[in-house]
Amino acid sequence: MILIDNIGVLATLSPLGEIHDAAVLIDGETIAWCGKKTDLPKKNIAHTIDAKGYLVTPGLIDCHTHLLFAGSRADEFARRMNHESYQTIMAKGGGIVSTVQATREASDQALLALAQARLDQMLAMGVTTVEAKSGYGLNLEQELRALRLLQQLDAIHRIDIHKTYLGAHVIPNEYTDTREQYIGLLMDMLEKLAVEGLADDCDVFCEQGAFSVTEAKTVLGKAHTLGLGLRAHVQQLSHSGGVALVRELPLKSISHADFLSNEDIKMIADSGVVVEALPIAALFLRSQTITPIEKLLASSVSLAIATDFNPGSAMCQDLVLASRIGVVYFGFPIPHALAAITRVAAQSLGYADRGIIQAGLIADFLITNCHSINEFFYDWTKHPAGSVIKRGNLC
Ligand code: NIG
Ligand code: FE
Repeated sequence: MILIDNIGVLATLSPLGEIHDAAVLIDGETIAWCGKKTDLPKKNIAHTIDAKGYLVTPGLIDCHTHLLFAGSRADEFARRMNHESYQTIMAKGGGIVSTVQATREASDQALLALAQARLDQMLAMGVTTVEAKSGYGLNLEQELRALRLLQQLDAIHRIDIHKTYLGAHVIPNEYTDTREQYIGLLMDMLEKLAVEGLADDCDVFCEQGAFSVTEAKTVLGKAHTLGLGLRAHVQQLSHSGGVALVRELPLKSISHADFLSNEDIKMIADSGVVVEALPIAALFLRSQTITPIEKLLASSVSLAIATDFNPGSAMCQDLVLASRIGVVYFGFPIPHALAAITRVAAQSLGYADRGIIQAGLIADFLITNCHSINEFFYDWTKHPAGSVIKRGNLC
């Protein structure tokens, strides 16, 4: 067994709460025991990791990324900083479709190399599970390629990858005049990828300029019959009505949810869906309207935080930064912000085997270089990721 010794504060995120002067025992890929150092059971210890009195948390979980893409949108970023809106750029033929072109043109090797380097960086920043969406292929061959590449990355990289099909990201240029044909193609793609078991979940971008609520319902309804989990980008840029999907279908999560009325909040609370707040995207797009965290918490809604890492609205892979912005700008209470990148992020993806520290669960840990949870969110000078343990292995 491996012993993590000398833990100043163990943030279990479980009913055990914060344990001071703690230790953890790891057996293979699994947590064998955790508790007060003084209660440590006698075991054969093969190896000891010294946490040096620091805070230890579960490995972080980024439950919303668009990991696999090629190209750069730095010029669009400059235009946006010069007051051109995300929607205007999209309407002029830029935005997501420009990344689609660059991604389609990239070789498998090039895409793998880009994604691998990004995953390396995420792991170094404390992330041990990543959700990754397709959605820059937007035809049968390219969407299946993206999902197969994600499968390969899952096999070769230490980080666990949760694969989400996002064929319904935008209507590709070839189908702008025949959008119902593209909806038909999305159905065909779903059947093919379901046969091969290529995706865990299906997501849609439900927004003006992307997919309507009716179209989103059609796509998600089909995915549901094929046994995929459901997620949706809703009400990021306007009160476009996507929240109503939670009344029709068993969604695991909705993301963004910046524009919410009181009725929307009630619908969300009644459904039990997880809301993924994406503070980097809101900041990057200079959104004037942001997810009403305090109201959602007052209605007992489960809130995750993710990076939304993508080349358009969130060119940043740092989940800790996302959670810090979540605290300072979105108004997350600190304990909720830590839960949002661990326990609730796991819930959003449907995992009961991670996101908290408890005997029997996967041994994914972040050993920080902070002395407390408050310091983790407070001191922006230093990144809190000290060392990372993935499935019992020190990375
Ligand atoms: O979550 N909203 C849709 N998708 C991404 C943006 C993707 C892009 O701009 O390339 C998002 O913000
Ligand atoms: Fe997104």
